Amino acid sequence: MKPELIPPATASGVRRSLLDHYDRTARDLPWRRDTDPYRVLVSEFMLQQTRVETVIKYYEPWLERFPSVEALAAADEDQVLKAWEGLGYYRRARNLHKASQIVAERYDGAIPSDPEALRALPGVGEYTTGAVSSIAFGIPAPAVDGNVRRVFARLFDEAAPTPSWLRVVAGRFVSEDRPGDWTQALMELGATVCTPRTPACVECPVVAWCAAHAAGTVDERPAPPRKREVPTRVIPLAVYHTSGKALVQRRPANGLLAGLWAFPELNELGLEDCALSLGLTPRGDSGTLPDVEHRFTHLHARYVPAVLEVEPRPAVNLASDDDAESGAAPWPGEDLRWIGAEGRSDTALPVAQRKVFESWLESME
Ligand code: ADE
Repeated sequence: MKPELIPPATASGVRRSLLDHYDRTARDLPWRRDTDPYRVLVSEFMLQQTRVETVIKYYEPWLERFPSVEALAAADEDQVLKAWEGLGYYRRARNLHKASQIVAERYDGAIPSDPEALRALPGVGEYTTGAVSSIAFGIPAPAVDGNVRRVFARLFDEAAPTPSWLRVVAGRFVSEDRPGDWTQALMELGATVCTPRTPACVECPVVAWCAAHAAGTVDERPAPPRKREVPTRVIPLAVYHTSGKALVQRRPANGLLAGLWAFPELNELGLEDCALSLGLTPRGDSGTLPDVEHRFTHLHARYVPAVLEVEPRPAVNLASDDDAESGAAPWPGEDLRWIGAEGRSDTALPVAQRKVFESWLESME
């Protein structure tokens, strides 16, 4: 159906029925207890591309660590990445950090309610603008995420909903009275009832209006995207260690896992020559650890870790994250750091790197 043909009665019937359902069944999620704009912004950044069950574990600890825009703005990027560790898509953390600095400087710490000003913040796209505007500020703005897209595709039996179609349709349905609840009710329906596979149409509060249900096409709506071939890359890693600590290196500022800490990737030089190129002297035999696989959006990575003990250095040079604050000069440089079992909590390692680290620690026991 063309969006302009949606009868007002349809929109108001759907709205009333879905909001009633939300009032009866909404999950008690931590970010639903308060509409403080900073808290809403944090939750929406975390929920971009990440499941509710995962975000729940990070949300309150984050707010304890960074209770306000100012606290986040004043933090080091390393601390921010550390608190985000394991949530993935680390660009979100960097953007949220930058956004907090802009809000602190330009808006005196108050998240702007003007949707245009919100949209101009780093990492805030159309979806996040709509979600924060409606949930935190009560502005009737649509917010279309993957769940909402599926709900509307089915409601109108639309195989390939385009962004512009969705914008118009979602705009027709927003609630003037309860904009934030409407945003969350739609997402909730997509997450819990109108699910991608085996949707629970018998429980659906808007089934009476659902064109795909009437046509028997629910399972085909929206049509699945064409599967992209995701290449697999084998990535040899080096775990150089001495005195119970292993060497990690800061990754380049651009590209995969930019700016995070990771084990050095081996190039054609091989394990020993690569150690020498880092100023390390090999000692003893090399070994291996189990491969670790990780799926990024565009890449399946298979990490193949090799282990090599290197000569110990004088203690003063064996700077680690423990003594980074003591003023001891890091060795061999700013972008290299030793981490041991006791200091592992301070260095933000991506999930696959942490698995390698834990398996190395285990192998040393
Ligand atoms: N996904 C994105 N935003 C959400 C929210 N506020 N509640 C539940 N799921 C969401």
